[in-house]
This record gives sequence, structure tokens and C-alpha cells, in this order.
Amino acid sequence: VDHIRIGLLGCGTVGEAFAELLVERRAAIEDAAGISLDLVRIAVRDPDKPRSPRLDPELFTGDALEVVKAQDVDIVVELIGGTTPAGELITTALNAGKPVVTANKQLIGSAGPELFAVADRAGVDLFFEAAAVAAVPILRPIRESLLGEDVTRVAGIVNGTTNYMLTRMMSDGLSFDEALANAQELGLAEPDATADVQGDDAASKLAILASLAFNQSVVADDVTREGIVGLDTEDFRLAAQFGFDIKLLAVAERFTDDAGGGEIGVQVFPALIERDHPLASVRDSFNAVFITTSAAGELMFYGRGAGPRPSASSILGDVLAAADHLRRGTHRRVPVGPRAVLRSTQELT
Ligand code: NDP
Ligand code: HSE
Repeated sequence: VDHIRIGLLGCGTVGEAFAELLVERRAAIEDAAGISLDLVRIAVRDPDKPRSPRLDPELFTGDALEVVKAQDVDIVVELIGGTTPAGELITTALNAGKPVVTANKQLIGSAGPELFAVADRAGVDLFFEAAAVAAVPILRPIRESLLGEDVTRVAGIVNGTTNYMLTRMMSDGLSFDEALANAQELGLAEPDATADVQGDDAASKLAILASLAFNQSVVADDVTREGIVGLDTEDFRLAAQFGFDIKLLAVAERFTDDAGGGEIGVQVFPALIERDHPLASVRDSFNAVFITTSAAGELMFYGRGAGPRPSASSILGDVLAAADHLRRGTHRRVPVGPRAVLRSTQELT
């Protein structure tokens, strides 16, 4: 059995669920993969706050940099969120030759290309599967199975909070504030939920998906966006009356026509979806993404797009992949494509 020591940065909604899942699955992982994942340090803002009784209080510290630099930490898992200090901590870990796993869409969606270059130079893994469509393995298929493919479109529902809210507002008549409060209670929302309801979280995820799928660098600022804040009960009533659902869509398209060959359009917007369309059956915190390629045709990825335990599942998968690479002395680079040439978008379909 190979012992791989994990340093965890952040033990909030997602971090605690990940730490608990790690403890819960440790023996089974050892049996299945021959790897013992040992959680050796946990950095938080306030080490005196009460924590899960399943986690050893001795592991907690208030010094995240100390965890990153510790000799006894082999893999760093960043679940603090935001761009600062997460970006600096991840860069320090990568430069120290430590693989990093993160769920931080905000950071990867804005500074992904720079961080991919740092990981590449250091020759270590940077994994971020949970940063897009939480539980659903979609980035690894894009990075591996579809690497040689010609992807032309990535489109679907990529935010669990807003999909949950829209479902509850349309089906149960909940108000915006009630639906948002429920989503927050379930641990679906971002620490600052305006990122969800204004479409910023979906924009970050779309930037990540588009960058990997098209091998061109797209950042969240490139994404034209409109969230669900302006929707009211009259919109829902009218949509229902004419047989539609309202969904927050994220669409990335690579144009192949002569006029704008290779240009990319990226947009997040609320859309009317016919009740018999597959996306209309995507309810609550579930997400679904269609990927269109020249050879495979259309692929659909579906599952829980938010929530502590679904996200923890995805993070655990990344940690295991990084641990396996570590023991084999290998890593998988994230290609850093050229800056995308953007086409201004008007509700891509
Ligand atoms: P929380 O705010 O619940 O947790 C943040 C954690 O980071 C807390 O434990 C906090 O400490 C700790 N922390 C904050 N600042 C520092 C610091 N300077 N040094 C050390 N620790 C610090 O965030 P979430 O768990 O909701 O989100 C974490 C990440 O997961 C984000 O990037 C988010 O976008 C992402 N994510 C969330 C999903 C979801 O469904 N909610 C799904 C996929 C990704 P303390 O506990 O002491 O306050
Ligand atoms: N707040 C995010 C969402 C979490 O609701 O989709 C998952 O990335």
C-alpha cells in the first residue's frame, strides 16, 4: 500500500463533506486502489470553531501556507474558494512540486490559463473536476476521451442553485427569496450567492468547459451573461401557460463557417424550454450538459451539479487520480491553448 498524505485548505460546506468522505471511504480505497489516503492537516480561518466529530481536532490549523509547505503533505486540496489567497496558495503548492486538487470555479475560470502553465512548468497535476458540474465527471472525458476530437458545441444547465430555484418557483410557487434560502440550506449556493443568481458561477464553469473542449483560452469575463434575478411570477405563469419551462442555459459554440472560422461564442441566459425537451426534465440541483463533436455526435452528461457530498465525490476522484500519478511519477498536463477569438453572441441556440 502506498501512503499519500493530504493537506486540506478549507473545511466549510464542501471541505468538511470531502474530509468526512475521505475518512468514510479510506479502507475501501485502500482495498480497491492500494493507496492509503491520509488526511494529515486541515487549514481553516478559525481553528477554534466547532468541527465535525469525525475529524481529529489535532489536524486543524489557522495557517494555510504552513499546510502547503509542510514536508508531510504530498497533495494539496484547495476548498477555500475565491481568488485570494487561494490563487497564491495553489501557485506555491505547484511550484513546490505538489499536485493540487481544487473545486474553485471562480479561480480556474479567471486565472486558469496562468495556473495551467505553472502546473505544466512544475510537472505536476492540477485537477479541478468539481469546478464544473460538481458530481458529474465531464472534465476528465473532455481532457482524455475527447482530446483528439473536434468539439463544436458545449451547452446545458451548469448551475445547481438556479436550477433548484427555478424548479421550486415554477412547480411549487416559491418566491425567489424562499427558493434561494432553501438552496443555501442545502449547501448548493456559493458563499456569496449573487454569483449563482447573476449567472457569474455559470459563466466561470462555461469558461472552463469551453477552454478545455476547444483548446482555446476562455475566461469568465469573456462570457456574456444574464442571471435569473429579473424573473418574476408573471414570467413563470406565462411560460407554464404556453407549455414551457424556464432554464438558465450556458452555451459555448465554436463557429466553423467561412466568415468566422474558429471564433467562439460564450453566453449564459435564461431561456424558454419546451416541456418535452430533455433539458426540461433536469430538475432541482441536477445539471445536464450536451457536448457535440464531429465524430461522436452528441453526448449528454447528467447528474448532481451542486451540493457538499456530490462535490466531495468528484474531489475524491481527483485526489485518487493525483495520488496514482504521484506513485507512478507521472502527471497529466492541462493544455494551455491560444487566447480565443470571441464572436459577440445573441442568444446562441
Ligand atoms: P465555505 O465558505 O463554506 O468554506 C470555506 C472554508 O475555507 C472554511 O472552512 C473557512 O474557514 C476556510 N477559509 C477561509 N479563508 C481561509 C484562509 N485564509 N485560510 C484558511 N482557511 C480559510 O465555502 P464552500 O465550502 O461553500 O466552497 C468551497 C469551494 O467549493 C468554493 O470554491 C466553491 O465555489 C466550491 N464549490 C462549491 C460547491 C457547492 O455545491 N457548494 C460545488 C463545487 C464547488 P472557517 O471554517 O474557519 O470559516
Ligand atoms: N453554487 C454552485 C451551483 C455549486 O449551484 O451550481 C456547484 O458548482
